Amino acid sequence: MRLTAILPCLCALAAMVLCFLCMFAGNKPGFMEDYHMVTLNTSRSGQNFLDNSTFIPPGDNILTDALRNVSSSITSNINQAIDSLAAELGLSDFYSVHLLNYCSGAYISKPPTTTKNVTACSRPRALFHFDPTAALTRSLNTTTSHIGSITLSDLRWPTELSSGVIALRIAHHTAFILYTLSIVLAFLSFLSSFFALFFAGRLSAALNLLLAVPALGALLLASAVVTAVVVRAADVVNMYGYRVGVEAKRGGRFLAMTWAATGVGLLEVLWWCGECVVGRRWKRMGRGAVVDGAAAQPVGH
Ligand SMILES: *[C@@H]1O[C@H](CO)[C@@H](O)[C@H](O)[C@H]1NC(C)=O
Ligand SMILES: *[C@@H]1O[C@H](CO)[C@@H](O)[C@H](O)[C@H]1NC(C)=O
Ligand SMILES: *[C@@H]1O[C@H](CO)[C@@H](O)[C@H](O)[C@H]1NC(C)=O
Ligand SMILES: *[C@@H]1O[C@H](CO)[C@@H](O)[C@H](O)[C@H]1NC(C)=O
Ligand SMILES: *[C@@H]1O[C@H](CO)[C@@H](O)[C@H](O)[C@H]1NC(C)=O
Repeated sequence: MRLTAILPCLCALAAMVLCFLCMFAGNKPGFMEDYHMVTLNTSRSGQNFLDNSTFIPPGDNILTDALRNVSSSITSNINQAIDSLAAELGLSDFYSVHLLNYCSGAYISKPPTTTKNVTACSRPRALFHFDPTAALTRSLNTTTSHIGSITLSDLRWPTELSSGVIALRIAHHTAFILYTLSIVLAFLSFLSSFFALFFAGRLSAALNLLLAVPALGALLLASAVVTAVVVRAADVVNMYGYRVGVEAKRGGRFLAMTWAATGVGLLEVLWWCGECVVGRRWKRMGRGAVVDGAAAQPVGH
């Protein structure tokens, strides 16, 4: 019985659970919504028209007409009108991207905090990637806005924003595959650590190390790829979105969770390294004792 194997056993289990949560966070409304990869704040899209409403030529189109109406209601009650600006247009306030799907909903601002009310999530898909244009078009199609039917081009939606985010689809798919691999390897590593509870010795420590290292490798790659996707997506959205009042926020908690999984994976590898080294030293001391004949018991036994 090797009770010390409980620690790497727990590490492997924790890494597996954290990977699962990275994968399934936000896959249905209200389930770990705060653990999003990126959130697009669209609550003020259309703001660019309002800021410049004096420049809107009269009778340009139905949208500018309606926005002028919204604009005039803002003068009467600025906060209320701005909160509902996205809704006026038929959009959600936010679109949060997860590994398997995206969710959308409305902000509920109750000073000093703002919370999210998720109203819809897309169906989880294995090889999912986020397409902002499709997501917003879907909102415009399904919501009846106060203004009538408008399209993203009415809003002068920047195409660079969508193409920049869609360019990340291969990386997003890669992250999904690496998380799947991480879960499988962490599970195998958990099993072998569990058996190591009953089979002490250097061989079992070495075998465990042999499984723990690829599990750590997959975790490390998954976390690195997903971090790159998150950082790049937020940058692209902020770069092109400011013109239409859209901003993006990185999912700090999601990143913390994936790197925590990597951390416990590393701890497990270090532990098994230590067991290998310590096991060898004990064995050498044991053999020395036999050769020397009447030598004393190995220390630290
Ligand atoms: C959304 O963006 C607007 C400005 O674009 C900002 O005033 C508001 O606080 C943001 N909301 C959240 C919840 O981040
Ligand atoms: C306002 O609109 C005018 C004409 O459409 C444009 O030339 C100007 O750059 C706009 N200003 C801002 C701040 O968007
Ligand atoms: C804007 O307001 C005017 C007068 O209040 C109204 O006649 C017009 O239909 C409104 N336009 C839209 C697009 O709501
Ligand atoms: C959240 O949204 C749902 C559906 O739109 C609505 O019924 C519910 O009242 C909202 N919750 C809050 C706290 O506003
Ligand atoms: C939205 O509606 C337009 C035409 O009404 C259609 O061409 C488009 O495919 C629809 N988009 C989605 C995402 O349903």
